[in-house]
Amino acid sequence: MSELISAPHSGTFYSRQKFASIFADIGTAALRLLPAELAHDIGMGLMKAGALNYLPAPALDIAMAGMKVRVPGIGDLPHPIGLAAGFDKNCKCPGAFVHMGFSMVEIGTVTPFGQTGNPKPRLFRQSEQRALINRMGFNGDGAATVSERLKQLNWNNDRVPLGINCGKNKVTPPERAIQDYLQVIEAFKGLCKYFVVNISSPNTPGLRDLATPAFIEQLADEVGHDRSKIWIKIDPDMTRREFQELVSTIADRGFQGVIISNTHRVTFPEVGGQSGHPVMALSTACLEWAWEVHKGRLPMIASGGVLSGIDLFQKLSRGASAVQIYTALVYRGPWVVWKLLLELNAEMRLRGYSCVEDFIGSYYEH
Ligand SMILES: Cc1cc2nc3c(=O)[nH]c(=O)nc-3n(C[C@H](O)[C@H](O)[C@H](O)COP(=O)(O)O)c2cc1C
Repeated sequence: MSELISAPHSGTFYSRQKFASIFADIGTAALRLLPAELAHDIGMGLMKAGALNYLPAPALDIAMAGMKVRVPGIGDLPHPIGLAAGFDKNCKCPGAFVHMGFSMVEIGTVTPFGQTGNPKPRLFRQSEQRALINRMGFNGDGAATVSERLKQLNWNNDRVPLGINCGKNKVTPPERAIQDYLQVIEAFKGLCKYFVVNISSPNTPGLRDLATPAFIEQLADEVGHDRSKIWIKIDPDMTRREFQELVSTIADRGFQGVIISNTHRVTFPEVGGQSGHPVMALSTACLEWAWEVHKGRLPMIASGGVLSGIDLFQKLSRGASAVQIYTALVYRGPWVVWKLLLELNAEMRLRGYSCVEDFIGSYYEH
């Protein structure tokens, strides 16, 4: 890894990386002058039009030495940073996230039928805290449209695994929620590498009430063998006891793993789910609660508050096999993966590790 530290200080490598970074930082700062959802939509439009291809990309291969991870059910990844759900809800441009260097991409939340979501404004920045609050409410095109879009892409899941995050429509009563999840799963069968059952978004009334052992039991019975492809995404706002009972049932019933966590529910200064830095401690504590229950038996993907390489290290050392980010992309721009990998590398070297897999779960070692 010595080239990683020395190279950025020398010659053409340095100029190229710096140029790539400055260019992208200016674009990101300009977008942040706009209202948050408009900035997101313009950013997505630019990505879909292939604008990233005109930006000089940083040399990711150098940052990736020692970063390989194996995520059960998903596969071997060149590094542990994936895109979290919500950024590309409708599968408009998953390829752009591969160009940014993400090692896996999650699409959705997808609901059976298209719906408009909550009235705008519904996405807010808290820049001084490096946070966002959203109450989008599963705005999306619906399973048929999104799956058709993915089909047209001929996505190669062996190269970059793509996951589908599944939700329920707002109008679906709780007792029929399972049918909604099954419908979305059915629509994407054979098109993606893994599924996520989202019972943790705070912006669909009643959704979090599904986060009970009883619902998990029922879901397990309904999906049968497909359980091994399904991850359950959990919220960070339960009591320790509720959380651990849920995780215990998920592990016992043979689901592939858990994504810990979704956003933190807030009511001030806006109602919605908070993401970014303020969620880091809460969400990381939930990884520890889960580990207490399964002791490494149940794979975990971490999501919540990762904005730096040190944050990344904290999540992996607490037993996450991989990490997903959303808010960091908003605040640190399109080359955030590269930035995080460089920072993670520095943190690893400081602590005497040369590869990521050597310290996954190390927090629990005595
Ligand atoms: C605007 C916005 C929309 C989101 N939409 C979804 C969603 O549709 N489904 C989901 O499971 N998570 C959704 N999330 C949560 C993220 O996937 C992620 O779990 C959360 O933001 C914490 O990660 P972060 O701190 O890196 O942003 C959304 C987050 C944001 C900020």
